[in-house]
Amino acid sequence: MRLAGKVAVVTGGALGIGQATSIRLAEEGAAVVIADVNAAAGEETARGIAATGGKALFVQTDVSHEDSIRQMVQVAVKAFGKIDILVNNAAIFVLKGIDATVEEWRQILDVNVIGTSLVSKHVVPEIRKAGGGAIVNLGSISSFIAQPQFVTYNATKAAVASMTRCMALDLAPDNIRVNAVCPGTIWTQIVERLAGEAGLDRAAADKDPTWGGACLLKRVADPREIANVILFLASDEASYVTGAHIMADGGYTAV
Ligand SMILES: NC(=O)c1ccc[n+]([C@@H]2O[C@H](COP(=O)([O-])OP(=O)(O)OC[C@H]3O[C@@H](n4cnc5c(N)ncnc54)[C@H](O)[C@@H]3O)[C@@H](O)[C@H]2O)c1
Repeated sequence: MRLAGKVAVVTGGALGIGQATSIRLAEEGAAVVIADVNAAAGEETARGIAATGGKALFVQTDVSHEDSIRQMVQVAVKAFGKIDILVNNAAIFVLKGIDATVEEWRQILDVNVIGTSLVSKHVVPEIRKAGGGAIVNLGSISSFIAQPQFVTYNATKAAVASMTRCMALDLAPDNIRVNAVCPGTIWTQIVERLAGEAGLDRAAADKDPTWGGACLLKRVADPREIANVILFLASDEASYVTGAHIMADGGYTAV
């Protein structure tokens, strides 16, 4: 029960890494607010957590709309009294090169960059009131490397890496630590779909030289393996860690 008595907001907490994180934080005693646009998946994730004795509340939220974020924070605080932890996980995958349209740029910037900032803007006052806490942003190996035809997505993930350092600087006086987890290839629905388009199932993706085979551990990862790193950074065990980027990429960027 490493998060007993804590309240966590997980954006994009309905599916994928966010879902695994909502479940993992709840397992460790946190009351979890699942802030996601996807109502069906969000409700189901919250029900699953409650069924195993955890505390979770789904609040339909679009991180690219400030009013929606404001409302989510109000509902969260009304339900659980405070917020200690924020996981900025929601993102979309607009995978384009320089042929991206203005609309495509705005779409991905609105969610991945401006959304991350706006959710932080409205949650931080609550974390301050709670006496401090932790923010975990979802970066990526894409924050640091080039990938073919990924100009749009990688620009947003590089922004998240930079925002993590800037937020760590600005929020340290409030006793709020800000870190990023940077995953490699994680077997979530989007990755499964992209692998499927390349004719790969999970076993084949593990071995394929451009997928799991590209990292030292020679496999893709389960979302729970990322949730464990997020849990560490959100917990008091990471009390002297701020402004850091933890690579959880099977060693992809080590060589
Ligand atoms: N899957 C990977 O291999 C991988 C690798 C590196 C980094 N990441 C990062 O991890 C995070 C989660 O990725 P994932 O693969 O689990 O994605 P996913 O698509 O499986 O899940 C994303 C969740 O965010 C929600 N969401 C999307 N737009 C939203 C919005 N405007 N407001 C609120 N919620 C919204 C979706 O409904 C969904 O539940 C992202 O930040 C992604 O960039 C993923």
